[in-house]
Amino acid sequence: MKPGDVENVIKEISGEIKGKLVISTAATIPLRFYKGIAPHAKFVRTMPNIAALVQESFTAYCCDGEVTESDKKKIEKLLSLMGSCQEVEEKYMDAITALSGSGPAYISIIIEALMYAGLRVGLPRNLALYSAAQTVLGTGKLILETQEHPAKIKDMVTAPGGTTIEAIYELEGSQIRQALMRAVKEATEKCQRIRNEITREAK
Ligand SMILES: NC(=O)c1ccc[n+]([C@@H]2O[C@H](COP(=O)([O-])OP(=O)(O)OC[C@H]3O[C@@H](n4cnc5c(N)ncnc54)[C@H](OP(=O)(O)O)[C@@H]3O)[C@@H](O)[C@H]2O)c1
Repeated sequence: MKPGDVENVIKEISGEIKGKLVISTAATIPLRFYKGIAPHAKFVRTMPNIAALVQESFTAYCCDGEVTESDKKKIEKLLSLMGSCQEVEEKYMDAITALSGSGPAYISIIIEALMYAGLRVGLPRNLALYSAAQTVLGTGKLILETQEHPAKIKDMVTAPGGTTIEAIYELEGSQIRQALMRAVKEATEKCQRIRNEITREAK
């Protein structure tokens, strides 16, 4: 449910969830907010992304102090059905929300832009879209599996006097890195503003 509905729903079910594990995907809502309403339940806060639809979500989760190691095994088993998962400290959840929760939107913009770039140089539409999306998928997999730094991958495909360096030269002048860094910072800060609104209303 939407984060703004969490308070009423947890109040409604608080009698049913005593001693039970409650896993929420609601963005921005802190564990202490759930605990304040239903102190006898165990809460887990998660941040998946829409790639869960194809079992490729990255899901970060954090737990309140009463969640046990055996609970965590259950949580990981469940979240693994949607892709990969990792426990993080709660202080990172806003940044995760901004980076990987919203990330499919940013990557979709990049894929769309690459598709149009392909159209501009004469590729058929389907071929342009496929080559853009598969290149994003392949590069992500390459970085994860080789554990190489992205800069190394970039360097590996950049030959002296070649084609890639011409493209990189253009990108470096475009402020693409700053745009992504600004975007993630703005989204992170928006989490805090939403949380303030919801928790202020609840008081
Ligand atoms: N979309 C994402 O990629 C994403 C990623 C990470 C986290 N989240 C979080 O996931 C949550 C849902 O997002 P969404 O995009 O899936 O929203 P959504 O499409 O609007 O879905 C909201 C769902 O909550 C249900 N719901 C609303 N009020 C309820 C209530 N009082 N009791 C029981 N169920 C209720 C709705 O059921 P009905 O259809 O029956 O009304 C609907 O299935 C949000 O808290 C969001 O922060 C979303």
